[in-house]
Amino acid sequence: MTYEDARTTLKTCGQEHALRHWAALNEMQREALLDQIATLDPALVAELSQSLGAGDETGTSHPDIEPADVVRLAQQPATRADARARGEQALRDGKVGVILVAGGQGTRLGFDGPKGAYPLGPITNMTLFDIHARKILALERLYQTNIPFYVMTSQTNDAATRAFFTEHDGFGLAPENVRFFIQGMLPAFDADGKIVLDAPDHLFLSPDGHGGTLSALAKTGNLDDMKQRGLSTLFYFQVDNALVQVADPEFIGRHLAADADMSLKVCAKRDPEEGLGMVVKKDGGLAVVEYTELTREQKYATRPDGELKFLFGSVAIHVFSREFLAREADAGLPFHRAFKKVPFCDEHGRTVTPEQPNAYKFEKFIFDALPDARNALLLEFARGQEFSPLKNAAGADSAEAARRDMMSKWAGWLEQAGIPVPRDARNTPVHKLEIDPCYAVSAEELKAKLPAGFRVDGDLHLR
Ligand code: UTP
Repeated sequence: MTYEDARTTLKTCGQEHALRHWAALNEMQREALLDQIATLDPALVAELSQSLGAGDETGTSHPDIEPADVVRLAQQPATRADARARGEQALRDGKVGVILVAGGQGTRLGFDGPKGAYPLGPITNMTLFDIHARKILALERLYQTNIPFYVMTSQTNDAATRAFFTEHDGFGLAPENVRFFIQGMLPAFDADGKIVLDAPDHLFLSPDGHGGTLSALAKTGNLDDMKQRGLSTLFYFQVDNALVQVADPEFIGRHLAADADMSLKVCAKRDPEEGLGMVVKKDGGLAVVEYTELTREQKYATRPDGELKFLFGSVAIHVFSREFLAREADAGLPFHRAFKKVPFCDEHGRTVTPEQPNAYKFEKFIFDALPDARNALLLEFARGQEFSPLKNAAGADSAEAARRDMMSKWAGWLEQAGIPVPRDARNTPVHKLEIDPCYAVSAEELKAKLPAGFRVDGDLHLR
């Protein structure tokens, strides 16, 4: 892109100020800035900038929502075996792929590197990427199949993510079955709708949200790749969930039996104020409503049996039909905006880190596909078995909490297999535990593998 092209592009969307430091830039800086400007979609920039004049959406409310119908845990045993067999067959037939979204910036965790490279195994320090990849490898071995793995990164962590996989030989997965794709980036806008520069030669850009998965899959040719490989069904999850049951056969089987476009695993809120997006009936269909958009009355409303009325939240564990992903990629998801602290460049060309929010960031959310699904299945899961996200450096949702949750899950598996697990007065396992996914991906598999007379009398690493 030339300087003239850049001026024309910026003019069409009212952003000529992005070149205001041009005269002071050297050749390399000029080239870098032009490269960034070339990635902008001027029609989208104009649309987002103008949307800021349309008022604030923080007061959005949903007076007419009702709880969505959920397949409850208590209802599940009756149909569990059938569903499982159906999902296992789809896996054996090579119809299932896995999508991992790992393009986020992990701001709260503050880890130097992609979040997937965080060491989390209680004994081995195995990283999140390794844990996820070995779950796929375990299923490939179990069902004698290929499970293509689509990993979404962003410009900020793509090179580091690929390098991490290469360094670790792809964690044992066949290289032709692991496909990285980069999500889109979007500028931030100040209150006047102007794109923020964080240096004289640099636009502040950030990933376009996990909803960016759909357009990125389409743009990078991965929807075509899925079609060519004969995949019908895609399991979707987020990089920070150490407990996720990747490509859970029973979930896939239920999704297929329901002929669903999109399925969601949902869990009960811990308390009325927990920040989980609620799955609800809205405008004749289903939707996920952010917890900030529920009134206090809705958050605390109860049913006659005392259970919360709006109880079930989505934690971004989904199954999609490939055809639905393609339809939604064409349809496009809406943008959500948030007022955030965004570093900016002052009139002297110095970068300032603001103490207060100063600019709008836009993101798309994957759950906004739900209202378009013709059939959708909502399946309750037990949180302690499948959800423990690594979000924070300390406290709730920290690495320490995730390790504790992993060990508690494995202790439960051992106990289900009839093996006593020594616990302290607070019911925490006394010894460290770690079970490699390639040893067992479920309590049933563990039980079948453990030798007779097995005992836990020290730290235990099963692999
Ligand atoms: P979060 O919204 O929790 O963001 O992402 P994050 O990057 O992990 O952490 P913070 O908020 O900056 O502290 C949930 C999941 O969605 C992915 C993340 O990688 C994570 O797996 N994600 C998020 C993307 O892939 N792209 C995005 O633009 C945003």
